[in-house]
Amino acid sequence: MGDTSHGTIYGINGPVIKVRGNHPFQMLEMVMVGHDRLVGEVIRILKNETIVQVYENTTGLKTGEPVVSTGKPLTVKLGPGIIGNVFDGIERPLVKIAEDTGIYIKRGSVMNNLDTEKLWDVKMLVKPGDYLNQGEIFAEVKETESVNHKIMIPPGIKGEVIEAAEDGPYNIEKTIVKVRDEKKIHNLTLIQEWPVREPRPYYRRLPLDIPLITGQRVIDTLFPLAKGGTAAIPGGFGTGKTLTQHQLAKWADADIIVYVGCGERGNEITEVLEDFPKLIDPRNARPLMERTVLIGNTSNMPVAAREASIYTGITLAEYYRDMGYDVAIMADSTSR
Ligand SMILES: Nc1ncnc2c1ncn2[C@@H]1O[C@H](COP(=O)(O)OP(=O)(O)O)[C@@H](O)[C@H]1O
Ligand SMILES: [Mg+2]
Repeated sequence: MGDTSHGTIYGINGPVIKVRGNHPFQMLEMVMVGHDRLVGEVIRILKNETIVQVYENTTGLKTGEPVVSTGKPLTVKLGPGIIGNVFDGIERPLVKIAEDTGIYIKRGSVMNNLDTEKLWDVKMLVKPGDYLNQGEIFAEVKETESVNHKIMIPPGIKGEVIEAAEDGPYNIEKTIVKVRDEKKIHNLTLIQEWPVREPRPYYRRLPLDIPLITGQRVIDTLFPLAKGGTAAIPGGFGTGKTLTQHQLAKWADADIIVYVGCGERGNEITEVLEDFPKLIDPRNARPLMERTVLIGNTSNMPVAAREASIYTGITLAEYYRDMGYDVAIMADSTSR
């Protein structure tokens, strides 16, 4: 297994796996479990055993199979190709998986979260000699008709541009800018990675003094919301929670919609997946999906995967927020 540390399964209880091995795992590290390489997360470390929560069905998994460390926490890739897509809770592209392996996700389907072959028309905004700080925008890509994707310097990097590509078509893995700081040269592409459980940094928090016009007068009048604020819709089954969120997604005064279906039954998610692509954006009469990303996790998936889907959704939302967009994120529902 090269230099990757690994352990061996010696106990399985549903999605919870007990691992023994001589190599230390890190807390909340992402691991690959068994021969099918199911994605899991380290949730408890004891002196001589590690407890892993698996995000997929563990039927058929046996003791003695290996658990391989990835050395990093659950991370998502951030870059062009997110908008309009449908992901599961750990940012696997469901439409692509359906095309490749059929309507059921094959266990252990590990693939590129974002399309690595597609060429994006990149407009460069920097030249050699420019000095860039983290979060500054160095290129732009028209991700969809409705969204101009701003390519930013990832958090923690700053320095002088020593090389910049010409405007032109590039895939997400191609280095388009080299930035040098005191220590090293950073090769920057159209994508960056981010650990989902860590909030993305910001310079300062803005006061909550701009109302979010939801487009539903009853909400705006009786329960006004602020941009940057949060709200919950409590209610029994069939009382209109999901419908209200669909209306907010369609009419709220936000640039980007992140819709996380994280606990609904499979048929309810199906409804979302069927309904959303039909919705027309009242702003420009284009499909609403051109500024929406859907994350689907049904109530029959392991709890850990559903929990992770909210973190994944928030990370995507924070990424578009960092570009300067107003992002509305909805999670339906967190109670099941
Ligand atoms: N404001 C409303 N007016 C008329 N019908 C509604 C309204 N809100 C919800 N419904 C209907 O009630 C049913 C259940 O709504 P739904 O949003 O799925 O409930 P929940 O998500 O709270 O379980 C749906 O068939 C929906 O069309
Ligand atoms: Mg509902």
